[in-house]
Amino acid sequence: MKKSNQTSSILLLFLYLATEASAAATPSQIEKGFKAVNDPSSAPFETLLTDPTTVVSFGFLQVNSTHLDLAVIHLPSGQPLWRANPANPARLSASVSLSFNGSLVLSDDKTGVLWSTTTATGDVVILLNSSNLQIVKFDELEPVLWQSFDHPSDTIVQDQNFTSTAALHSTNQLYSMSLGSNYLALFMEFGPGVKSPMYWKHTAMEAKNQIIQGKGPIYAQVDSFGFLGLYQKENAPVDVLPFDSFNREIPGFRRLTLEADGNLKSYYWNDTVWVTDYVAISNLCDLPNPCGAYGVCRTGQSQCSCLDNRTDGCLPPESGNLCLSRENFWVLRRKGVDLTNKDLLPFQKVQSLEECEGLCEQNCSCWGAIYSNASGFCYQMDYPVQTVTGIGDENKIGYFKVGDQESENEGESGRRKVKALVAVGVVLAAAGVGFGTYRIWITRRRGRIDGKNGSMVQGLASGPYKNLKTNSFRSIELSDSFGKNEGMR
Ligand SMILES: *[C@@H]1O[C@H](CO)[C@@H](O)[C@H](O)[C@H]1NC(C)=O
Ligand SMILES: *[C@@H]1O[C@H](CO)[C@@H](O)[C@H](O)[C@H]1NC(C)=O
Ligand SMILES: *[C@@H]1O[C@H](CO)[C@@H](O)[C@H](O)[C@H]1NC(C)=O
Ligand SMILES: *[C@@H]1O[C@H](CO)[C@@H](O)[C@H](O)[C@H]1NC(C)=O
Ligand SMILES: *[C@@H]1O[C@H](CO)[C@@H](O)[C@H](O)[C@H]1NC(C)=O
Ligand SMILES: *[C@@H]1O[C@H](CO)[C@@H](O)[C@H](O)[C@H]1NC(C)=O
Ligand SMILES: *[C@@H]1O[C@H](CO)[C@@H](O)[C@H](O)[C@H]1NC(C)=O
Ligand SMILES: *[C@@H]1O[C@H](CO)[C@@H](O)[C@H](O)[C@H]1NC(C)=O
Repeated sequence: MKKSNQTSSILLLFLYLATEASAAATPSQIEKGFKAVNDPSSAPFETLLTDPTTVVSFGFLQVNSTHLDLAVIHLPSGQPLWRANPANPARLSASVSLSFNGSLVLSDDKTGVLWSTTTATGDVVILLNSSNLQIVKFDELEPVLWQSFDHPSDTIVQDQNFTSTAALHSTNQLYSMSLGSNYLALFMEFGPGVKSPMYWKHTAMEAKNQIIQGKGPIYAQVDSFGFLGLYQKENAPVDVLPFDSFNREIPGFRRLTLEADGNLKSYYWNDTVWVTDYVAISNLCDLPNPCGAYGVCRTGQSQCSCLDNRTDGCLPPESGNLCLSRENFWVLRRKGVDLTNKDLLPFQKVQSLEECEGLCEQNCSCWGAIYSNASGFCYQMDYPVQTVTGIGDENKIGYFKVGDQESENEGESGRRKVKALVAVGVVLAAAGVGFGTYRIWITRRRGRIDGKNGSMVQGLASGPYKNLKTNSFRSIELSDSFGKNEGMR
Protein backbone atom coordinates (compact mmCIF):
# COMPACT_ATOMS: atom_id res chain seq x y z
CA MET A 1 0.00 0.00 0.00
CA LYS A 2 2.76 2.37 0.87
CA LYS A 3 4.39 1.57 -2.43
CA SER A 4 1.35 2.45 -4.50
CA ASN A 5 1.08 5.69 -2.60
CA GLN A 6 4.64 6.48 -3.48
CA THR A 7 4.09 5.60 -7.10
CA SER A 8 1.12 7.88 -7.39
CA SER A 9 2.93 10.75 -5.73
CA ILE A 10 5.85 10.26 -8.05
CA LEU A 11 3.41 10.32 -10.96
CA LEU A 12 1.97 13.53 -9.62
CA LEU A 13 5.42 14.91 -9.29
CA PHE A 14 6.17 14.09 -12.90
CA LEU A 15 3.01 15.84 -13.96
CA TYR A 16 3.94 18.82 -11.86
CA LEU A 17 7.43 18.99 -13.27
CA ALA A 18 6.24 18.50 -16.83
CA THR A 19 3.81 21.37 -16.56
CA GLU A 20 5.56 23.66 -14.13
CA ALA A 21 9.15 23.37 -15.14
CA SER A 22 8.78 22.07 -18.68
CA ALA A 23 11.25 19.35 -17.81
CA ALA A 24 10.10 15.88 -18.73
CA ALA A 25 12.08 14.38 -15.87
CA THR A 26 14.68 15.83 -13.62
CA PRO A 27 17.70 13.62 -13.11
CA SER A 28 18.76 12.59 -9.64
CA GLN A 29 22.30 13.56 -10.46
CA ILE A 30 24.21 15.57 -13.02
CA GLU A 31 26.94 13.70 -14.85
CA LYS A 32 29.97 14.78 -16.82
CA GLY A 33 29.16 16.16 -20.22
CA PHE A 34 25.92 17.73 -18.98
CA LYS A 35 24.90 20.99 -20.57
CA ALA A 36 21.71 23.03 -20.17
CA VAL A 37 20.96 26.21 -22.04
CA ASN A 38 18.78 28.78 -20.35
CA ASP A 39 15.42 29.52 -21.88
CA PRO A 40 14.54 33.14 -21.03
CA SER A 41 10.88 32.55 -21.89
CA SER A 42 10.53 29.67 -19.43
CA ALA A 43 9.08 29.81 -15.94
CA PRO A 44 10.96 31.98 -13.41
CA PHE A 45 12.61 28.83 -12.11
CA GLU A 46 13.86 26.13 -14.44
CA THR A 47 14.60 22.86 -12.66
CA LEU A 48 17.82 21.04 -13.48
CA LEU A 49 18.14 18.71 -10.49
CA THR A 50 15.77 17.71 -7.69
CA ASP A 51 16.60 15.91 -4.45
CA PRO A 52 15.20 12.37 -3.92
CA THR A 53 12.52 13.57 -1.51
CA THR A 54 11.50 16.46 -3.81
CA VAL A 55 11.84 19.06 -1.11
CA VAL A 56 14.43 21.18 -2.90
CA SER A 57 15.49 21.80 -6.45
CA PHE A 58 18.52 23.23 -8.24
CA GLY A 59 18.20 25.24 -11.44
CA PHE A 60 18.11 28.54 -13.29
CA LEU A 61 16.40 31.31 -11.31
CA GLN A 62 15.26 34.52 -12.97
CA VAL A 63 16.02 37.59 -10.87
CA ASN A 64 13.83 40.68 -11.45
CA SER A 65 13.03 39.29 -14.94
CA THR A 66 16.23 40.91 -16.14
CA HIS A 67 18.88 38.70 -14.57
CA LEU A 68 19.64 35.05 -14.09
CA ASP A 69 21.35 33.05 -11.37
CA LEU A 70 21.77 29.48 -10.31
CA ALA A 71 19.81 28.65 -7.21
CA VAL A 72 18.63 25.94 -4.88
CA ILE A 73 15.01 26.59 -3.99
CA HIS A 74 12.62 25.11 -1.47
CA LEU A 75 10.04 23.60 -3.83
CA PRO A 76 6.82 23.99 -1.82
CA SER A 77 7.42 27.71 -1.27
CA GLY A 78 9.73 28.67 -4.12
CA GLN A 79 12.01 30.31 -1.55
CA PRO A 80 15.66 30.44 -2.70
CA LEU A 81 17.91 28.82 -0.08
CA TRP A 82 21.14 29.27 -1.98
CA ARG A 83 22.31 31.40 -4.90
CA ALA A 84 25.51 31.01 -6.85
CA ASN A 85 26.19 34.59 -7.73
CA PRO A 86 23.79 36.95 -5.96
CA ALA A 87 26.11 39.95 -6.02
CA ASN A 88 26.58 39.73 -9.74
CA PRO A 89 23.87 37.72 -11.49
CA ALA A 90 24.07 37.08 -15.23
CA ARG A 91 21.96 39.01 -17.71
CA LEU A 92 18.90 37.03 -18.67
CA SER A 93 19.80 35.69 -22.08
CA ALA A 94 19.54 32.59 -24.23
CA SER A 95 23.31 32.54 -24.54
CA VAL A 96 23.73 31.55 -20.86
CA SER A 97 24.31 27.88 -20.15
CA LEU A 98 25.33 25.58 -17.33
CA SER A 99 27.70 22.71 -17.97
CA PHE A 100 29.46 20.10 -15.88
CA ASN A 101 32.88 18.89 -16.93
CA GLY A 102 34.20 18.05 -13.46
CA SER A 103 33.46 21.60 -12.52
CA LEU A 104 30.04 23.24 -12.59
CA VAL A 105 30.42 26.15 -14.98
CA LEU A 106 27.92 28.90 -15.73
CA SER A 107 28.95 30.67 -18.89
CA ASP A 108 27.73 33.07 -21.49
CA ASP A 109 28.62 32.30 -25.10
CA LYS A 110 29.30 35.97 -25.59
CA THR A 111 31.21 36.91 -22.45
CA GLY A 112 32.71 33.61 -21.24
CA VAL A 113 32.72 32.00 -17.79
CA LEU A 114 30.46 33.80 -15.29
CA TRP A 115 30.80 31.45 -12.35
CA SER A 116 32.50 28.12 -11.67
CA THR A 117 33.12 25.75 -8.78
CA THR A 118 36.69 25.22 -10.05
CA THR A 119 36.63 21.54 -9.09
CA ALA A 120 38.30 20.00 -12.13
CA THR A 121 37.93 16.37 -11.02
CA GLY A 122 34.30 15.99 -9.95
CA ASP A 123 32.35 12.94 -11.14
CA VAL A 124 28.73 13.87 -10.32
CA VAL A 125 26.64 16.68 -8.90
CA ILE A 126 24.04 15.65 -6.36
CA LEU A 127 21.43 17.54 -4.37
CA LEU A 128 20.64 16.38 -0.83
CA ASN A 129 17.25 16.96 0.75
CA SER A 130 19.01 19.25 3.23
CA SER A 131 19.42 21.58 0.20
CA ASN A 132 23.17 20.96 0.06
CA LEU A 133 24.39 20.83 -3.54
CA GLN A 134 27.54 18.72 -3.72
CA ILE A 135 30.18 17.87 -6.28
CA VAL A 136 31.34 14.36 -5.53
CA LYS A 137 34.29 12.30 -6.67
CA PHE A 138 33.93 8.51 -6.67
CA ASP A 139 36.37 6.31 -4.76
CA GLU A 140 37.79 8.96 -2.54
CA LEU A 141 38.22 9.16 1.20
CA GLU A 142 36.97 12.72 1.03
CA PRO A 143 34.43 12.41 -1.75
CA VAL A 144 32.87 15.88 -1.45
CA LEU A 145 34.99 18.28 -3.50
CA TRP A 146 32.64 21.23 -3.20
CA GLN A 147 29.33 21.92 -1.47
CA SER A 148 26.95 24.84 -1.54
CA PHE A 149 26.80 24.68 2.29
CA ASP A 150 30.32 26.12 2.35
CA HIS A 151 29.25 29.08 0.21
CA PRO A 152 26.02 30.38 1.71
CA SER A 153 24.34 33.45 0.22
CA ASP A 154 21.71 35.02 2.52
CA THR A 155 20.48 31.84 4.23
CA ILE A 156 21.66 28.91 6.29
CA VAL A 157 19.44 25.89 6.83
CA GLN A 158 19.13 23.26 9.51
CA ASP A 159 22.38 21.33 10.09
CA GLN A 160 24.43 23.56 7.81
CA ASN A 161 27.72 24.55 9.43
CA PHE A 162 28.24 28.29 9.31
CA THR A 163 31.96 28.72 9.90
CA SER A 164 34.18 31.73 10.45
CA THR A 165 35.39 31.50 6.85
CA ALA A 166 31.86 32.04 5.52
CA ALA A 167 29.59 35.08 5.56
CA LEU A 168 25.96 35.71 4.79
CA HIS A 169 25.10 38.65 2.56
CA SER A 170 21.60 40.05 2.21
CA THR A 171 20.33 39.80 -1.40
CA ASN A 172 20.91 43.53 -1.88
CA GLN A 173 24.48 43.08 -0.56
CA LEU A 174 24.01 45.89 1.97
CA TYR A 175 24.36 43.72 5.10
CA SER A 176 26.47 40.77 6.15
CA MET A 177 26.71 38.29 8.98
CA SER A 178 29.87 36.64 10.21
CA LEU A 179 31.43 35.03 13.25
CA GLY A 180 34.10 36.47 15.48
CA SER A 181 36.21 34.63 18.01
CA ASN A 182 33.35 34.45 20.52
CA TYR A 183 30.39 36.17 18.88
CA LEU A 184 28.04 36.33 15.92
CA ALA A 185 27.55 39.77 14.38
CA LEU A 186 25.77 41.73 11.68
CA PHE A 187 27.51 44.44 9.65
CA MET A 188 26.63 47.17 7.17
CA GLU A 189 28.51 46.96 3.90
CA PHE A 190 29.63 50.05 1.99
CA GLY A 191 32.12 48.60 -0.44
CA PRO A 192 35.82 49.27 -0.77
CA GLY A 193 37.42 51.94 1.40
CA VAL A 194 34.84 51.88 4.20
CA LYS A 195 35.19 49.60 7.17
CA SER A 196 32.01 47.55 7.71
CA PRO A 197 30.40 48.82 10.92
CA MET A 198 28.78 46.33 13.23
CA TYR A 199 25.14 46.97 14.16
CA TRP A 200 24.20 43.82 16.05
CA LYS A 201 26.29 41.47 18.15
CA HIS A 202 25.49 38.31 20.02
CA THR A 203 28.27 37.16 22.31
CA ALA A 204 28.45 33.51 23.26
CA MET A 205 27.17 32.96 26.80
CA GLU A 206 29.52 30.03 27.41
CA ALA A 207 27.10 28.83 30.08
CA LYS A 208 27.75 25.09 29.79
CA ASN A 209 30.89 25.00 27.67
CA GLN A 210 33.76 27.45 27.43
CA ILE A 211 35.49 28.57 24.27
CA ILE A 212 39.03 27.29 24.55
CA GLN A 213 41.73 29.47 23.04
CA GLY A 214 43.69 27.70 20.32
CA LYS A 215 41.11 24.94 19.92
CA GLY A 216 39.89 26.34 16.64
CA PRO A 217 37.23 28.81 15.57
CA ILE A 218 33.59 28.58 16.54
CA TYR A 219 30.82 27.72 14.09
CA ALA A 220 27.05 28.15 14.11
CA GLN A 221 24.29 25.71 13.28
CA VAL A 222 20.50 25.90 13.16
CA ASP A 223 19.21 22.99 15.18
CA SER A 224 15.98 21.06 14.54
CA PHE A 225 15.08 21.67 18.19
CA GLY A 226 14.59 25.33 17.46
CA PHE A 227 17.78 27.18 18.30
CA LEU A 228 20.93 28.57 16.79
CA GLY A 229 23.87 26.88 18.46
CA LEU A 230 27.40 28.22 18.55
CA TYR A 231 29.94 25.43 18.83
CA GLN A 232 33.65 24.96 19.05
CA LYS A 233 33.33 21.21 19.48
CA GLU A 234 30.49 19.10 18.15
CA ASN A 235 27.60 18.45 20.56
CA ALA A 236 29.03 20.97 23.03
CA PRO A 237 27.39 24.31 22.33
CA VAL A 238 29.13 27.34 23.81
CA ASP A 239 25.89 29.20 23.23
CA VAL A 240 22.25 28.46 22.54
CA LEU A 241 20.16 31.22 21.00
CA PRO A 242 16.61 29.90 21.38
CA PHE A 243 13.84 30.49 18.84
CA ASP A 244 10.15 30.73 19.73
CA SER A 245 9.81 27.10 18.70
CA PHE A 246 12.58 26.05 21.10
CA ASN A 247 12.27 22.44 22.20
CA ARG A 248 9.09 21.91 20.24
CA GLU A 249 9.33 19.08 17.82
CA ILE A 250 8.68 20.69 14.50
CA PRO A 251 9.37 18.49 11.50
CA GLY A 252 9.30 21.38 9.02
CA PHE A 253 12.25 22.74 7.13
CA ARG A 254 14.14 25.46 9.02
CA ARG A 255 16.12 28.40 7.70
CA LEU A 256 17.88 31.46 9.08
CA THR A 257 17.99 34.37 6.66
CA LEU A 258 19.70 37.75 6.63
CA GLU A 259 16.94 39.92 5.20
CA ALA A 260 17.27 42.86 2.82
CA ASP A 261 16.42 45.28 5.67
CA GLY A 262 19.35 43.97 7.72
CA ASN A 263 17.29 41.89 10.10
CA LEU A 264 18.15 38.29 10.89
CA LYS A 265 15.15 35.97 11.02
CA SER A 266 14.55 32.31 11.56
CA TYR A 267 11.64 30.45 9.99
CA TYR A 268 10.15 27.00 9.79
CA TRP A 269 7.90 25.67 7.05
CA ASN A 270 4.54 24.55 8.47
CA ASP A 271 3.37 22.96 5.19
CA THR A 272 1.62 26.16 4.18
CA VAL A 273 3.69 29.18 5.14
CA TRP A 274 7.07 30.10 6.57
CA VAL A 275 6.46 30.78 10.27
CA THR A 276 8.86 33.30 11.80
CA ASP A 277 10.20 31.99 15.09
CA TYR A 278 13.12 34.34 15.71
CA VAL A 279 13.79 38.00 14.92
CA ALA A 280 17.14 39.48 15.92
CA ILE A 281 15.98 43.12 15.82
CA SER A 282 12.36 43.46 16.88
CA ASN A 283 12.07 47.25 16.91
CA LEU A 284 11.87 48.84 13.46
CA CYS A 285 13.95 51.86 14.51
CA ASP A 286 16.76 49.56 15.65
CA LEU A 287 17.33 48.33 12.11
CA PRO A 288 20.39 49.88 10.46
CA ASN A 289 18.63 52.04 7.89
CA PRO A 290 14.83 51.88 8.17
CA CYS A 291 14.24 55.43 6.91
CA GLY A 292 17.15 55.67 4.49
CA ALA A 293 20.23 57.87 4.67
CA TYR A 294 19.92 61.08 6.71
CA GLY A 295 16.57 59.84 7.98
CA VAL A 296 15.26 59.90 11.54
CA CYS A 297 13.27 57.02 12.94
CA ARG A 298 11.22 57.89 15.97
CA THR A 299 10.98 55.07 18.48
CA GLY A 300 7.46 54.09 19.42
CA GLN A 301 5.82 55.90 16.57
CA SER A 302 7.65 53.90 13.93
CA GLN A 303 7.77 56.98 11.85
CA CYS A 304 10.31 58.33 9.43
CA SER A 305 11.38 61.92 8.93
CA CYS A 306 14.53 63.64 7.70
CA LEU A 307 17.46 65.03 9.68
CA ASP A 308 17.09 68.35 7.87
CA ASN A 309 13.27 68.31 8.33
CA ARG A 310 12.72 68.14 4.59
CA THR A 311 9.48 66.53 3.58
CA ASP A 312 10.31 65.80 -0.07
CA GLY A 313 12.75 62.98 0.65
CA CYS A 314 15.93 63.06 2.68
CA LEU A 315 19.39 63.84 1.42
CA PRO A 316 20.75 61.22 -0.98
CA PRO A 317 22.91 58.50 0.54
CA GLU A 318 26.65 58.89 0.53
CA SER A 319 28.93 56.11 -0.49
CA GLY A 320 32.63 55.74 -0.14
CA ASN A 321 35.05 57.67 1.86
CA LEU A 322 35.83 61.35 2.29
CA CYS A 323 39.55 60.54 2.58
CA LEU A 324 39.73 58.97 -0.86
CA SER A 325 37.51 61.40 -2.71
CA ARG A 326 38.85 64.51 -0.96
CA GLU A 327 35.34 65.73 -1.29
CA ASN A 328 34.14 68.80 0.53
CA PHE A 329 31.26 68.58 2.90
CA TRP A 330 28.79 70.66 4.78
CA VAL A 331 27.37 69.93 8.18
CA LEU A 332 23.93 69.22 9.54
CA ARG A 333 23.27 69.33 13.28
CA ARG A 334 20.33 67.93 15.15
CA LYS A 335 19.45 67.65 18.82
CA GLY A 336 17.63 64.65 20.27
CA VAL A 337 19.06 61.97 18.02
CA ASP A 338 20.95 58.80 18.80
CA LEU A 339 22.47 55.72 17.19
CA THR A 340 21.17 52.29 18.07
CA ASN A 341 24.55 50.72 17.40
CA LYS A 342 26.54 53.30 19.36
CA ASP A 343 27.75 50.75 21.88
CA LEU A 344 29.47 48.99 18.99
CA LEU A 345 31.18 52.15 17.73
CA PRO A 346 34.44 53.73 18.80
CA PHE A 347 33.89 56.48 21.36
CA GLN A 348 35.91 58.93 23.39
CA LYS A 349 35.28 60.96 26.49
CA VAL A 350 35.49 64.64 25.66
CA GLN A 351 35.09 67.95 27.50
CA SER A 352 32.58 69.59 25.20
CA LEU A 353 30.36 69.36 22.16
CA GLU A 354 32.91 71.46 20.27
CA GLU A 355 35.65 68.98 21.05
CA CYS A 356 33.49 66.12 19.84
CA GLU A 357 32.64 67.87 16.60
CA GLY A 358 36.27 68.86 16.13
CA LEU A 359 37.37 65.23 16.35
CA CYS A 360 34.98 64.28 13.61
CA GLU A 361 35.48 67.36 11.49
CA GLN A 362 39.22 66.84 11.22
CA ASN A 363 38.98 63.12 10.53
CA CYS A 364 38.04 62.31 6.96
CA SER A 365 36.95 58.78 7.86
CA CYS A 366 34.35 60.24 10.22
CA TRP A 367 30.94 60.93 8.68
CA GLY A 368 29.24 62.04 11.87
CA ALA A 369 29.26 62.05 15.64
CA ILE A 370 26.82 61.91 18.50
CA TYR A 371 27.73 63.85 21.61
CA SER A 372 26.06 62.98 24.86
CA ASN A 373 26.02 66.03 27.08
CA ALA A 374 25.17 63.91 30.10
CA SER A 375 28.06 61.45 29.84
CA GLY A 376 30.52 63.49 27.81
CA PHE A 377 30.93 60.61 25.39
CA CYS A 378 31.55 61.29 21.73
CA TYR A 379 30.56 58.48 19.36
CA GLN A 380 32.04 58.69 15.89
CA MET A 381 30.54 57.12 12.80
CA ASP A 382 33.26 55.95 10.47
CA TYR A 383 30.72 55.15 7.74
CA PRO A 384 28.24 57.14 5.64
CA VAL A 385 25.26 58.47 7.59
CA GLN A 386 22.30 56.10 7.72
CA THR A 387 19.06 56.45 9.66
CA VAL A 388 19.41 57.74 13.23
CA THR A 389 16.82 57.39 15.94
CA GLY A 390 14.85 60.33 17.23
CA ILE A 391 14.67 60.54 21.00
CA GLY A 392 13.21 63.00 23.44
CA ASP A 393 16.58 63.60 25.11
CA GLU A 394 17.89 66.93 23.83
CA ASN A 395 21.19 66.26 25.57
CA LYS A 396 22.23 64.01 22.70
CA ILE A 397 23.45 66.11 19.84
CA GLY A 398 24.24 64.83 16.39
CA TYR A 399 26.76 66.23 13.92
CA PHE A 400 26.52 64.91 10.37
CA LYS A 401 28.63 65.54 7.31
CA VAL A 402 26.99 65.78 3.92
CA GLY A 403 29.24 65.30 0.92
CA ASP A 404 29.23 68.16 -1.51
CA GLN A 405 29.71 66.55 -4.89
CA GLU A 406 30.40 69.26 -7.39
CA SER A 407 28.37 68.30 -10.37
CA GLU A 408 27.37 70.20 -13.43
CA ASN A 409 24.04 68.52 -13.90
CA GLU A 410 20.92 69.81 -12.24
CA GLY A 411 18.74 67.75 -9.95
CA GLU A 412 19.73 66.74 -6.48
CA SER A 413 23.14 68.35 -6.48
CA GLY A 414 21.78 71.33 -8.33
CA ARG A 415 19.25 71.81 -5.60
CA ARG A 416 21.94 71.52 -2.99
CA LYS A 417 24.02 74.08 -4.75
CA VAL A 418 21.09 76.46 -4.58
CA LYS A 419 20.96 75.91 -0.85
CA ALA A 420 24.67 76.55 -0.66
CA LEU A 421 24.25 79.85 -2.33
CA VAL A 422 21.38 80.81 -0.09
CA ALA A 423 23.58 80.09 2.89
CA VAL A 424 26.32 82.23 1.45
CA GLY A 425 23.89 85.03 0.88
CA VAL A 426 22.68 84.86 4.45
CA VAL A 427 26.20 84.93 5.82
CA LEU A 428 27.11 87.84 3.60
CA ALA A 429 24.01 89.81 4.43
CA ALA A 430 24.43 89.21 8.16
CA ALA A 431 28.05 90.18 8.20
CA GLY A 432 27.65 93.00 5.75
CA VAL A 433 30.87 92.15 4.01
CA GLY A 434 31.92 92.20 0.39
CA PHE A 435 33.16 89.46 -1.85
CA GLY A 436 36.77 90.31 -1.18
CA THR A 437 36.58 89.54 2.49
CA TYR A 438 34.51 86.51 1.75
CA ARG A 439 37.13 85.18 -0.62
CA ILE A 440 39.93 85.54 1.85
CA TRP A 441 37.83 83.87 4.47
CA ILE A 442 36.77 81.00 2.28
CA THR A 443 40.39 80.40 1.28
CA ARG A 444 41.39 80.22 4.92
CA ARG A 445 38.58 77.79 5.60
CA ARG A 446 39.80 75.65 2.72
CA GLY A 447 36.55 75.91 0.88
CA ARG A 448 34.23 75.65 3.82
CA ILE A 449 31.79 78.19 5.08
CA ASP A 450 30.71 77.98 8.64
CA GLY A 451 27.24 79.13 9.59
CA LYS A 452 27.68 81.39 12.60
CA ASN A 453 24.79 79.99 14.57
CA GLY A 454 26.16 76.55 13.99
CA SER A 455 23.05 75.06 12.55
CA MET A 456 24.43 74.47 9.11
CA VAL A 457 27.77 74.57 7.43
CA GLN A 458 27.88 74.70 3.73
CA GLY A 459 31.01 73.86 1.83
CA LEU A 460 31.85 74.86 -1.68
CA ALA A 461 34.50 73.23 -3.74
CA SER A 462 36.81 75.11 -6.05
CA GLY A 463 35.16 77.69 -8.23
CA PRO A 464 32.43 79.04 -5.97
CA TYR A 465 33.23 82.56 -7.05
CA LYS A 466 31.95 81.99 -10.53
CA ASN A 467 28.76 80.48 -9.18
CA LEU A 468 28.28 83.35 -6.79
CA LYS A 469 28.61 85.92 -9.50
CA THR A 470 26.09 84.34 -11.76
CA ASN A 471 23.62 82.80 -9.40
CA SER A 472 23.82 83.89 -5.84
CA PHE A 473 21.38 86.70 -5.57
CA ARG A 474 18.94 85.10 -7.88
CA SER A 475 19.14 82.08 -5.63
CA ILE A 476 18.31 84.05 -2.54
CA GLU A 477 15.01 84.89 -4.08
CA LEU A 478 14.16 81.20 -4.22
CA SER A 479 12.36 81.62 -0.96
CA ASP A 480 10.62 78.31 -1.43
CA SER A 481 13.88 76.46 -1.16
CA PHE A 482 14.94 78.68 1.71
CA GLY A 483 11.73 78.19 3.62
CA LYS A 484 12.06 74.44 3.41
CA ASN A 485 15.44 74.61 4.96
CA GLU A 486 14.66 75.48 8.52
CA GLY A 487 18.19 74.58 9.49
CA MET A 488 19.44 77.89 8.20
CA ARG A 489 17.10 79.94 10.29
C1 LIG B 1 16.17 43.79 -8.47
O1 LIG B 1 15.24 44.75 -7.98
C2 LIG B 1 15.56 45.27 -6.72
C3 LIG B 1 14.46 46.18 -6.26
O2 LIG B 1 13.59 46.52 -7.28
C4 LIG B 1 16.88 46.01 -6.79
O3 LIG B 1 17.22 46.53 -5.54
C5 LIG B 1 17.94 45.04 -7.26
O4 LIG B 1 19.17 45.72 -7.42
C6 LIG B 1 17.55 44.39 -8.57
N1 LIG B 1 18.51 43.36 -8.87
C7 LIG B 1 19.05 43.23 -10.06
C8 LIG B 1 20.00 42.10 -10.23
O5 LIG B 1 18.80 43.98 -10.98
C1 LIG C 1 35.60 22.93 -17.81
O1 LIG C 1 35.13 24.05 -18.55
C2 LIG C 1 35.67 25.30 -18.16
C3 LIG C 1 34.99 26.40 -18.93
O2 LIG C 1 34.97 26.13 -20.31
C4 LIG C 1 37.19 25.28 -18.39
O3 LIG C 1 37.74 26.50 -17.96
C5 LIG C 1 37.77 24.13 -17.57
O4 LIG C 1 39.15 24.02 -17.85
C6 LIG C 1 37.10 22.80 -17.94
N1 LIG C 1 37.58 21.78 -17.03
C7 LIG C 1 37.99 20.58 -17.44
C8 LIG C 1 38.44 19.63 -16.38
O5 LIG C 1 37.97 20.28 -18.62
C1 LIG D 1 15.91 14.07 4.34
O1 LIG D 1 15.71 12.71 4.16
C2 LIG D 1 15.94 11.95 5.32
C3 LIG D 1 15.77 10.50 4.95
O2 LIG D 1 16.49 10.23 3.82
C4 LIG D 1 14.98 12.37 6.39
O3 LIG D 1 15.26 11.69 7.58
C5 LIG D 1 15.11 13.85 6.64
O4 LIG D 1 14.12 14.30 7.55
C6 LIG D 1 14.94 14.61 5.35
N1 LIG D 1 15.22 16.01 5.61
C7 LIG D 1 14.44 16.98 5.18
C8 LIG D 1 14.87 18.36 5.50
O5 LIG D 1 13.42 16.77 4.57
C1 LIG E 1 29.40 20.17 10.53
O1 LIG E 1 30.53 20.09 11.36
C2 LIG E 1 30.58 18.91 12.13
C3 LIG E 1 31.73 19.01 13.06
O2 LIG E 1 32.87 19.47 12.40
C4 LIG E 1 30.68 17.72 11.18
O3 LIG E 1 30.70 16.53 11.91
C5 LIG E 1 29.48 17.71 10.25
O4 LIG E 1 29.60 16.68 9.29
C6 LIG E 1 29.38 19.03 9.52
N1 LIG E 1 28.16 19.06 8.75
C7 LIG E 1 28.12 19.37 7.45
C8 LIG E 1 26.78 19.34 6.80
O5 LIG E 1 29.11 19.69 6.81
C1 LIG F 1 0.52 27.28 9.07
O1 LIG F 1 0.34 28.61 9.48
C2 LIG F 1 -0.78 29.26 8.89
C3 LIG F 1 -0.74 30.70 9.32
O2 LIG F 1 -0.49 30.83 10.67
C4 LIG F 1 -2.04 28.55 9.32
O3 LIG F 1 -3.14 29.17 8.74
C5 LIG F 1 -1.95 27.11 8.90
O4 LIG F 1 -3.07 26.40 9.39
C6 LIG F 1 -0.69 26.45 9.42
N1 LIG F 1 -0.57 25.15 8.83
C7 LIG F 1 -0.30 24.07 9.54
C8 LIG F 1 -0.21 22.78 8.81
O5 LIG F 1 -0.12 24.13 10.72
C1 LIG G 1 39.57 58.79 12.57
O1 LIG G 1 38.37 58.06 12.91
C2 LIG G 1 38.55 56.67 12.85
C3 LIG G 1 37.21 56.05 13.11
O2 LIG G 1 36.46 56.73 14.03
C4 LIG G 1 39.58 56.24 13.86
O3 LIG G 1 39.75 54.84 13.79
C5 LIG G 1 40.89 56.94 13.57
O4 LIG G 1 41.83 56.62 14.57
C6 LIG G 1 40.69 58.44 13.53
N1 LIG G 1 41.90 59.09 13.09
C7 LIG G 1 42.47 60.06 13.79
C8 LIG G 1 43.70 60.63 13.20
O5 LIG G 1 42.01 60.44 14.83
C1 LIG H 1 24.78 70.31 28.94
O1 LIG H 1 24.61 70.09 30.32
C2 LIG H 1 24.87 71.25 31.11
C3 LIG H 1 24.81 70.86 32.56
O2 LIG H 1 24.20 69.64 32.75
C4 LIG H 1 23.88 72.32 30.78
O3 LIG H 1 24.15 73.46 31.53
C5 LIG H 1 24.00 72.64 29.32
O4 LIG H 1 23.03 73.57 28.95
C6 LIG H 1 23.85 71.40 28.48
N1 LIG H 1 24.14 71.73 27.12
C7 LIG H 1 23.35 71.41 26.12
C8 LIG H 1 23.83 71.81 24.76
O5 LIG H 1 22.29 70.84 26.27
C1 LIG I 1 13.91 70.04 12.78
O1 LIG I 1 12.79 70.01 13.62
C2 LIG I 1 13.10 69.74 14.98
C3 LIG I 1 11.82 69.51 15.73
O2 LIG I 1 10.83 70.36 15.27
C4 LIG I 1 13.94 70.86 15.54
O3 LIG I 1 14.28 70.59 16.88
C5 LIG I 1 15.21 70.93 14.72
O4 LIG I 1 16.00 72.02 15.14
C6 LIG I 1 14.94 71.06 13.25
N1 LIG I 1 16.19 70.85 12.57
C7 LIG I 1 16.61 71.57 11.56
C8 LIG I 1 17.91 71.22 10.96
O5 LIG I 1 15.95 72.49 11.13
